[in-house]
Amino acid sequence: MQLTPEQLTQFDKEGYLFFPDLFSPEEAAFLKAEALKIYQLEREEVWREKNGTARTAFAAHTYNEGFRCLGAHPNLVEPVQQLLDGDVYMHQYKVNAKAPFDGSVWQWHQDYGTWHRQDGMPSPRAMNIGVFLDDVTAANGPLIFLPGSHKHGVVDAEYDIETTGYPLWECTRETVTALAKAGGCIAPTGKAGSMIVFSSLLVHASPPNISPLDRTIVYLSLCETSNHITEFNRPEWIAHRDFTPIQPLPKDCLTKLVQNKS
Ligand code: SIN
Ligand code: MN
Repeated sequence: MQLTPEQLTQFDKEGYLFFPDLFSPEEAAFLKAEALKIYQLEREEVWREKNGTARTAFAAHTYNEGFRCLGAHPNLVEPVQQLLDGDVYMHQYKVNAKAPFDGSVWQWHQDYGTWHRQDGMPSPRAMNIGVFLDDVTAANGPLIFLPGSHKHGVVDAEYDIETTGYPLWECTRETVTALAKAGGCIAPTGKAGSMIVFSSLLVHASPPNISPLDRTIVYLSLCETSNHITEFNRPEWIAHRDFTPIQPLPKDCLTKLVQNKS
């Protein structure tokens, strides 16, 4: 899937792009059912909220066929190859649950802030591309972006290991306030099957999910191959060390998988 010149211009300006309803409801429902099975597993890759509810499952593409297929899907891999102007490898893979009632906050952060400081990623030539596996609304803990914040390089941040079970470099309130005054603060919402891509420098967060509704999103963090990480402080299944370029699968790979399983 190739991005249009208008989409490239918009990404450069805003730091993200949103693609409503890119995958079918059946494809999204298939992956959601696989996510629910994974959250039941006692695996070290499945991290939990303080009360035991699943928060995120790392590296699901290495042990689940549906997520392996999504991890090389051309709808995800090709736009990122285009935006980064080169081959990409999988730096990180997460299936985030943000469970009803219990799904807790992701504080304000830039992903590259963590990838640079903890994994020694040389430059921000990496980004997230995600697929909604549930409808994402204002009510169920959507992602929140500060449009244009990717233009400011790595911003001030403090290491937060206390708020949630997931340590990250949290942007300071002064910086978040200034960036929001400059470019606003928005939450892209849409149906299950929608796709979102955002710069690794885009400042983002998500509030707790106090609603009774699921909000599952799967994220590929793709990095241009020559920009691979240089420090190995985190487990391999959080910050991958296989820098092999991803070869995109055929466009109908997921559709066929869903048909064969039903
Ligand atoms: C992230 O920032 O990496 C995840 C946020 C979310 O899934 O709400
Ligand atoms: Mn993030």
